[in-house]
Amino acid sequence: MVNLLHSMKYSFLVTTLSLLPLLDCVRGQDKCWALQKEPRGDSYPSCCDIGLTDGDLPVQLESARKITSIPASCEELLQENNTFCSCVRDKIHSFWPDFEEYLTGNDANESVIDITGAKARVQNVRTSIAHDLVFTLTPNEVPKELDTSGKRNGSNVKLPRGLFQSIRSETDYVKVAVLVLDVGQVGLFKDPDQTGTMLDNVMVSVKVGGRQITGLNDCVELTFSHGLLPQNVARQCVFWDTKKGRRGGWNTSGCLTELRDRGTMCCCDHLTFFTLLMNPSLDNATAQKLFTIADVGCGISVVFSALTISLYFALRFAYKIFKSNDTAKIHVNLTSSLLLLNLAYLLNRRIFSLGHTGLCKGIGGFTHYSLLCCFTWMAIEAFQLYLLVIKVTNIYIRHYMAKLSLVGWGFPALVVTITGSMNSYGKYTIMDTANRTTVALCWIDSAHLVVHYVTNCSYFGLILLFNTLVLVVVAWKLFSLQRATAGKEEKRKAWKGGLTVLGLSCLLGGTWGLAFFTYGAMSMPAAYLFTVLNSLQGLFIFIWFAVLYYPKKGATTSSSSSGKNGKVTTASHS
Ligand SMILES: *[C@@H]1O[C@H](CO)[C@@H](O)[C@H](O)[C@H]1NC(C)=O
Ligand SMILES: *[C@@H]1O[C@H](CO)[C@@H](O)[C@H](O)[C@H]1NC(C)=O
Ligand SMILES: *[C@@H]1O[C@H](CO)[C@@H](O)[C@H](O)[C@H]1NC(C)=O
Ligand SMILES: *[C@@H]1O[C@H](CO)[C@@H](O)[C@H](O)[C@H]1NC(C)=O
Ligand SMILES: *[C@@H]1O[C@H](CO)[C@@H](O)[C@H](O)[C@H]1NC(C)=O
Ligand SMILES: *[C@@H]1O[C@H](CO)[C@@H](O)[C@H](O)[C@H]1NC(C)=O
Repeated sequence: MVNLLHSMKYSFLVTTLSLLPLLDCVRGQDKCWALQKEPRGDSYPSCCDIGLTDGDLPVQLESARKITSIPASCEELLQENNTFCSCVRDKIHSFWPDFEEYLTGNDANESVIDITGAKARVQNVRTSIAHDLVFTLTPNEVPKELDTSGKRNGSNVKLPRGLFQSIRSETDYVKVAVLVLDVGQVGLFKDPDQTGTMLDNVMVSVKVGGRQITGLNDCVELTFSHGLLPQNVARQCVFWDTKKGRRGGWNTSGCLTELRDRGTMCCCDHLTFFTLLMNPSLDNATAQKLFTIADVGCGISVVFSALTISLYFALRFAYKIFKSNDTAKIHVNLTSSLLLLNLAYLLNRRIFSLGHTGLCKGIGGFTHYSLLCCFTWMAIEAFQLYLLVIKVTNIYIRHYMAKLSLVGWGFPALVVTITGSMNSYGKYTIMDTANRTTVALCWIDSAHLVVHYVTNCSYFGLILLFNTLVLVVVAWKLFSLQRATAGKEEKRKAWKGGLTVLGLSCLLGGTWGLAFFTYGAMSMPAAYLFTVLNSLQGLFIFIWFAVLYYPKKGATTSSSSSGKNGKVTTASHS
């Protein structure tokens, strides 16, 4: 009976699984093909009224005119759920590469395309040309050949002469087409996961002869000139990769981006459709998500930090010996600074929205203070760990805790006093590409960002370095001790040792180090991970604290246990 049930379940599973790819087959069938075959009846929704509903889109000037005159209000065109419009969009995306072929395949030696939204120049070029070719790339202007010796101040594209020399053996003359496309507000050529916007909505394409040009030694240089951009805008040279995803997407492969003050140079090793994407370092939607995660995480952290502190005092009350446990005291200090930081963060945006300058400066300073306290206590944790594990002989420091507290709470106060006297606290904002505010906090104001770099970034960088060194030494000591005392429980111990190191690195601020990965390609996942882990640090420390100190038989005396294993326990108890 059981077997029967089991096999029924199994066959059901198999059926379901095999249905899934089938479903995909059906979906994958070319619906556009069906649309072309059948006359457009009422069963097919229309797609705006752009005259592209007949199915075919001949590669000629008339079609280019139709496409570039699509009104910006044509929202249907971008809807994924409208099959008909998806087909039209795919057709438009593949139209332009074909149009380029059409241009370079033209009989005339010279030609100019000058319609609204699409400007192109086609030129017959000698392959034995002795200089580089430069064309202007001004939006809404037909590209012009520029004198290479002259100053090039606007946007332009430079074709290296090596490109022509490489095809010299095949032909004496080659057609070069330079196309500047205004994709407008319509939103064509948009990657599903694209957050940035195109510079001036312009796409540029260069085509040499009828061939695919890839793997150039001397790259094609595209220079995009633009004014000063808002802060926090990342620029990236990309090309439209028709093979990416279901409908194509932007790809950076083979293109280098060189940033300048009022321009960006792209150096690409192949010829296709290029653009300059401008990504806000933090777009509004992501910022809102991160805020939500951080709010929830900090709320949880506040609760568990308070629990950790209560647990400490309860233990202290119950066990006399606990009073002299410096390590536990340090944990509690770190937890307290974390509690302050979480509270400061939770209050911050609420106080910002009040719009009161003085209050904003106050909470900005308080946030800075609690952050610095957190960093400092993390360093003190590492220092204590170092003393316990490396210097095994008990050294006695007079008024040890008092001195540590002075450093842990006093030094940040000193820094904040100095920073505050420079009037550095206030409104801090992060802008998106359109110069709209995505993040607004009471913090070090944007005019004093150097204070932020020195007191937070550099200070934290130093602490992270110190803590990493201590952690490496401790981990090494821990594992070498384990090897020396290797027995039956070897595996379990290694596992435990690994967990200990992981827990310690969390305690010593490892998760904060993630901040350094929130730049560059991996930025978004790292930003999410950073937010989740850091806002939950209070919970992690509570677990750590509870596991270490929750009264079990003989546990409270463990930090004074002796012998070879004593060192290991000491390490894992700090
Ligand atoms: C497609 O989705 C949009 C919302 O995203 C909706 O307004 C529209 O009615 C849907 N169209 C069809 C044909 O289902
Ligand atoms: C195009 O240019 C080539 C080389 O300069 C010349 O031989 C040919 O006659 C030209 N054709 C036209 C149509 O002008
Ligand atoms: C480039 O410089 C020339 C002369 O210096 C000037 O006339 C022209 O407007 C400039 N172009 C741009 C795009 O700044
Ligand atoms: C962004 O807006 C602010 C005012 O809100 C203005 O001072 C600043 O110049 C703008 N930046 C750019 C690059 O447009
Ligand atoms: C980008 O293009 C390169 C070369 O064509 C390809 O190897 C790579 O997979 C593409 N990247 C993506 C994300 O599609
Ligand atoms: C960002 O998103 C939030 C919530 O979705 C919205 O209230 C706010 O107006 C948006 N800000 C900008 C600059 O788009």
